[in-house]
Amino acid sequence: MSSMTSKEPFQASSSRESISPGEPLSLASICLDKETWGILKLFADSTPVVRLQKHLSDYRLDDHESVLEWVGDPAPDICLLDFDGDRRSAAMVAERIHADAPDTAIFAVSSQSQPDFIIQAMRSGCSEYLLKPLDPEQLLNAVARVGGRRREKKDSDRAQVFAFIGAKGGCGVTTLVTQMGALLASTYGRKVLLLDLHHDFGDAALYLGLTKYRYHFFELAENTDRLDADLLQSFVLHHSSGLDLIPAPHGTEPTHQTPPGALAHTLDFVRSRYEFILVDLPPGLRDENLELIRHCDQVNVVTVAEVSALRNVVRQTDYLTRKHIGAERIKVVLNRHQKRALITEAQIEKSIGQKIFWKVPNQYVHVVKTISGGDPVSQVSTSDVAKNLQDWAAAIGKKAGVGEKKEGRGLLGFWNR
Ligand SMILES: Nc1ncnc2c1ncn2[C@@H]1O[C@H](COP(=O)(O)OP(=O)(O)OP(=O)(O)O)[C@@H](O)[C@H]1O
Ligand SMILES: [Mg+2]
Repeated sequence: MSSMTSKEPFQASSSRESISPGEPLSLASICLDKETWGILKLFADSTPVVRLQKHLSDYRLDDHESVLEWVGDPAPDICLLDFDGDRRSAAMVAERIHADAPDTAIFAVSSQSQPDFIIQAMRSGCSEYLLKPLDPEQLLNAVARVGGRRREKKDSDRAQVFAFIGAKGGCGVTTLVTQMGALLASTYGRKVLLLDLHHDFGDAALYLGLTKYRYHFFELAENTDRLDADLLQSFVLHHSSGLDLIPAPHGTEPTHQTPPGALAHTLDFVRSRYEFILVDLPPGLRDENLELIRHCDQVNVVTVAEVSALRNVVRQTDYLTRKHIGAERIKVVLNRHQKRALITEAQIEKSIGQKIFWKVPNQYVHVVKTISGGDPVSQVSTSDVAKNLQDWAAAIGKKAGVGEKKEGRGLLGFWNR
């Protein structure tokens, strides 16, 4: 709980940074006196971080009336509630809003600074207690706290993104990414989307037996300005495992130039709709790969135990770390692993200067069978590759916290931020 009585240092820039400028927080005011309303209006006009949604001039709230009907649907992010007109009614209003619209932050506004009054407001569900006359800096700080929490929540609801890129062509990226996606979706019941980001010769759709489609990823990225759930659905192919796919172009069209920022925007949009996004990237150091990798939680560099591929792992890792991709996000996956290989694991790790993160066995016949059948899940009982990838999928599933609940901070913890 913060109030104007506690003088905290104002950090305007960090406060503003914690609210995305593209998403103003909606704000409803309830029973504000004329002067406070005037300050609030000036505040809203001078900053892009809030948008006034509604101004209510009485505490009217009978039991039968829905809170949302009253304060607005969707509920505002913030309610600024004046306690001076009628403290009891104001407290009841705060309780109703807190119960029916728990995501709405309630700021009490009052000219009274007695501890009893502050405690009463806290108990009725207010997270801030702002003294009159309203101080715009304090209000901005309070709004920033709400924005920060919103963003934390949004981030925790978003899909994890795993990119897969070959140290060179043919290392097995599409094989691993399609099998992994299908297993995550079917065995672990996850909402998984696979994006094939090859401009030409993308194989993900083929490996999943999904050969009939009209639209591809780059057309989606070109249309980010009208991106919504319906548009997205018209691009998504559904595999029998539950895995969704947005394929690459068929390969008979000229290369598509994605507008700057379009990849990031598209990824940002799909992240809120899935639990995992897997990306099949073409090999190479192109800018587009880098743009995508910047937004990934993990980039898996898939290699085989060949000198040229291993040399490229080193180049790839150096390049990415030079471009400020944290080394902890870069993982080396050794595909077609054989125990009695000419180049040993120790030699590989020495030459690439890092540990191998995951090893996938070499099992050509099974892999080819899986590709031609288009159904990785049916191979789990017989294929070592599928079993191996299922173990990896299990590790990812656990990390993402299936059924795990984050410990609630409780009301006081919330105030004590
Ligand atoms: N674990 C494995 N064991 C045996 N063969 C494999 C394995 N993984 C992939 N392959 C084989 O390697 C070949 C190339 O695989 P894949 O198409 O997945 O590679 P890629 O990295 O996606 O290639 P591209 O660079 O063309 O996109 C395929 O014939 C596939 O059957
Ligand atoms: Mg491929």
